[in-house]
Amino acid sequence: MEKYYWDTQLEYLKRTRDLYYNDDYLEFLVNSVWKISKPVHIIDFGCGYGYLGLKLLPLLPKGSKYTGIDKGQQLINKAIEYFHSLPYESKFFVADTEEIEIEDKYDIAVCHAFLLHISEPQKMLQIMVNSIVNDGKIICFEPHWISGMSSYELGGYEQSQIVPLGILQKLFEESKTDGNIGAKVPKYLSELGVKNIECRVSDKVNFLYSDKNQQDKKKLFYSLKEDGVGGEIINKDYFIESLTNRGVTLKEAQEQFEAELLFSQVFNMDSSLIYAPSMKITFGDIKKC
Ligand SMILES: C[S@@+](CC[C@H](N)C(=O)[O-])C[C@H]1O[C@@H](n2cnc3c(N)ncnc32)[C@H](O)[C@@H]1O
Repeated sequence: MEKYYWDTQLEYLKRTRDLYYNDDYLEFLVNSVWKISKPVHIIDFGCGYGYLGLKLLPLLPKGSKYTGIDKGQQLINKAIEYFHSLPYESKFFVADTEEIEIEDKYDIAVCHAFLLHISEPQKMLQIMVNSIVNDGKIICFEPHWISGMSSYELGGYEQSQIVPLGILQKLFEESKTDGNIGAKVPKYLSELGVKNIECRVSDKVNFLYSDKNQQDKKKLFYSLKEDGVGGEIINKDYFIESLTNRGVTLKEAQEQFEAELLFSQVFNMDSSLIYAPSMKITFGDIKKC
């Protein structure tokens, strides 16, 4: 039987999560923005190996609990392994989140880089809202690809030479996976009756530079590569065909190929690169009475 895709992506997930938030920013969100002062029970939809739980539980009041749900058995096994030696009460389930019903059980429902992989995100958000108690909270960390794409600066090159935005805008809008969903979640939540909705942006701006400590530089370079920054292009004909099949002109597809090829050729460990993924973090309050 073919392996579930995300079960094969543990290394990708582990290497790339550090590109998004500084720990002090998450601490600021927990304490100063969400003002979580009492123990809470959190449910993480599409939890993967438990990334958000591992980040948030140390910041939450003592006695807080974490439940993770994911379709990937291998990812859930990893999450269980990671939490086994930690002093937090945790539970993990292998399940399809689109097919579960949970009523008024958790204080906070969260998700991270999850809704973009769901075919009906508004329905999924309703399932998340249903799982939360009255006066609870929903928090969604989701990507906004076009914003991330505009947040590159590679020393020695114009941004438009390596990341032409116009064609990407079109491709993202055509894509089955909605990588711009982060910027849509505020509206979706308001349509579901969520109150006091706010949206923030991820704080981390990754800076690779030649003087950086060798070990940190290597780690950041490979995280960026794993996230697709300056990624290799294997086959020109396939690349161009797949883009033209998605509705762009042959000229645009060729220009995109040239840009991505240039990026992959000139980006190396001694490059000077700025990259801010620009995730959107949307949150609001659940009022059921
Ligand atoms: C990009 S990964 C993010 C994982 C984790 N939240 C993180 O940021 O490290 C997307 C996750 O959503 C999960 N997922 C996608 N669709 C799902 C579904 N219908 N039910 C349960 N999990 C799902 C995948 O298995 C995968 O672990």
